[in-house]
Amino acid sequence: MRIVSAIQPSGRLHLGNYFGALQKYIKVQEEGQALFFIADLHALTTVRNGQQLQEMTYGLALDYLAFGLDPKKTILFRQSDVLEHTELAWYLATVAPMGLLERAHSYKDKVIRGLFPSVGLFAYPILMAADILLYRADRVPVGKDQMQHLEIARDLANKFNTAYVLGYDASDPEGTKEGNAPGILTLPSPFFMKDESIVPGTDGAKMSKSYNNVIEIFADEAIITKKIMSIKTDSSSVIEPKDMRVSPIFALLQLLVTPSEMADIEESCRIGGKGYSTYKHRLLECFYETFRTVRQRRKELEGEKGYVKNVLNQGAERARQYASSTMEDIRKAVGTARK
Ligand code: ADP
Ligand code: TRP
Repeated sequence: MRIVSAIQPSGRLHLGNYFGALQKYIKVQEEGQALFFIADLHALTTVRNGQQLQEMTYGLALDYLAFGLDPKKTILFRQSDVLEHTELAWYLATVAPMGLLERAHSYKDKVIRGLFPSVGLFAYPILMAADILLYRADRVPVGKDQMQHLEIARDLANKFNTAYVLGYDASDPEGTKEGNAPGILTLPSPFFMKDESIVPGTDGAKMSKSYNNVIEIFADEAIITKKIMSIKTDSSSVIEPKDMRVSPIFALLQLLVTPSEMADIEESCRIGGKGYSTYKHRLLECFYETFRTVRQRRKELEGEKGYVKNVLNQGAERARQYASSTMEDIRKAVGTARK
């Protein structure tokens, strides 16, 4: 099984990234050949400072390693080190219907939030499809917010296969029925956990680097305390019962405490008598219980520049081997292969 995923180095790692992505990376890296990369080309849609991009790219490599992604087994690399991502994105762009991208939520959401409406931001799902299809991924561990992008990647694989593979039948992508041919590009499936949902930020909206509502995993203690203490609540008094839908504290606690503790929390909300600050303090404790060790490990790795660079270079080398095998088939099909 081939597993592919990525995070953009457009800010520091937060709880949404952990529960939507990294936690699953750690789990699935044992189940097949995983390729996890740092999506620096995607980050260009929001980051306009070269030095900052370099620093955040390095920072994300540290995050991956601190969380225990194992470079001996898993391929860790930087997207821009494998040029085939952008080449495949172009081939896919030529079979991508405008309407498909016009229906994508993420562009509209990001523009509403004030991001610059560039062609790159609009076309970003095509680059993401290329990222996945280039490695013929079977599984893509991402957060629920990326579901539509995964659908687009599947759609584009089908469009490409239909255009270029004689006998390809979209209802039989592997070409198992008599007379059908398999596609050049594999249709990827998302990988979600049971009952997974989108992690809310301190304001209750989706936690996202672009929305200034994140709780960063590796921030200084003072900042973490400030962020957790500033989580949105209502004005109900200590003795009043708490409606768990009002404040994102409870959804965040649910991610970090055991089911039996969560049942106690639910009960205490129902009867009242505890102020929001009690729950916030518990969240703070849980945060450190969960992340103390990785925070420590990341600190230790900070000075190991040579090692980190080596991991990324070797990862890129291995990733290129997969990429060039897919691209050979693609260039042959579209007519750009060197004769
Ligand atoms: P951001 O939205 O903060 O820019 P990215 O787009 O780089 O984060 O997301 C990287 C990974 O983290 C993706 O797999 C994405 O689904 C996941 N992720 C990001 N935010 C959340 C969230 N609030 N809840 C669940 N998963 C999330
Ligand atoms: N678009 C994803 C996000 O913003 C990151 C990403 C880029 C990705 N390429 C990918 C995720 C390929 C999975 C597979 O979260």
